Amino acid sequence: MTAATGGTTVGVPRESGADERRVALVPKVVEKLRTRGVEVVVESGAGLGALIPDDLYVAAGATIGDPWSADVVVKVAPPSTEEIGRLRSGTTLIGFLAPRTAPESLAALKSAGVVAFAMESIPRISRAQSMDALSSQGNVAGYKAVLLAAERSTRFFPMLTTAAGTVKPAQALVLGVGVAGLQALATAKRLGARTTGYDVRPEVADQVRSLGAQWLDLGIEAVGEGGYARELTEDERAEQQKRLEEAITGFDVVITTANVPGRKAPTLVTARAVEGMRPGSVVVDMAGESGGNCELTKPGEVIVEHDVTIASPLNLPATMPEHASELYARNVSALLELMLDDDGALAPDFDDEVLAQSCVTREVGA
Ligand code: NAI
Repeated sequence: MTAATGGTTVGVPRESGADERRVALVPKVVEKLRTRGVEVVVESGAGLGALIPDDLYVAAGATIGDPWSADVVVKVAPPSTEEIGRLRSGTTLIGFLAPRTAPESLAALKSAGVVAFAMESIPRISRAQSMDALSSQGNVAGYKAVLLAAERSTRFFPMLTTAAGTVKPAQALVLGVGVAGLQALATAKRLGARTTGYDVRPEVADQVRSLGAQWLDLGIEAVGEGGYARELTEDERAEQQKRLEEAITGFDVVITTANVPGRKAPTLVTARAVEGMRPGSVVVDMAGESGGNCELTKPGEVIVEHDVTIASPLNLPATMPEHASELYARNVSALLELMLDDDGALAPDFDDEVLAQSCVTREVGA
């Protein structure tokens, strides 16, 4: 389907996942894409999870209709088998596609002749910052994790001086200080906690200190490829767990975000460490989707062990659908605009580093 302008059509389906409240494009971004000659077709109700009714999309210049026959389909979550069946051969798909963990879905997209771009595979380089959805959604998740911790905590975050006496501030520790971890440190600080950060990438120390947090130095470094951490050796892992067991006892709140791309999340908080925490303390494990950073974590659940609450919320960005969608939509449209020529026609240059790395299925020679 090609628009009367000769430009590209972009379809926005309603997300099908039960708890997925985000939407891939928001009206403001639709307006901007229209100025590039793009026609946007939104499935009726696509924005409702983020409280965006159809008429706001129409006011922004979109039409309400079938998004699946557009030239480009933009999604948030990876497409279901049923959704892959609705994509025509030659369609371009942009979204989180879990390329490392769902190879079968990539194979299905490839055999359907879909040209797929995974938001997770966009290189973490300066030029691609506006497209970095891992960062935009990590920010949302890091913020929300701290609010959940505060809600579950039996204690205040800030220091309080009251007529009834003084309350000490909470001690909050963030394990794994990437994008989500930095936001968690900043948010806990804003709530008045004393904050400490820990990571195996030593360059993070300055970023942690710049947020007014302490740096926990355990003497274990593990820098991997592309700026990510590498997996620890067996010995390093044992040493890290032992040192963390000692350190964690002093904290009221522990937020964990540690991940190594494509691997099971490292266990940083052992059952013994939880046992050593003061009753009423809280662990929020943000790595539940990749197995969890706490030995006792049950992904998607909130449990209490030794009077310590261990929460492992899944898909935190979907719990703040308005801002998460707004930021994600800007990321998606920045990637899409990189593929458009001056007339708004789809003309991806696969020699471009960003497109070459984020494209995960394409017929050879296409
Ligand atoms: P992530 O979600 O993959 O991992 C979270 C954190 O866990 C990382 O900081 C990692 O070092 C840490 N970690 C892994 N194993 C650990 C262990 N055993 N113990 C303690 N910590 C452990 O990270 P995220 O947020 O996706 O960031 C990954 C990289 O991307 C970082 O180097 C970041 O600086 C870089 N980046 C670059 C951007 C750019 O535009 N240049 C933008 C955003 C991120």
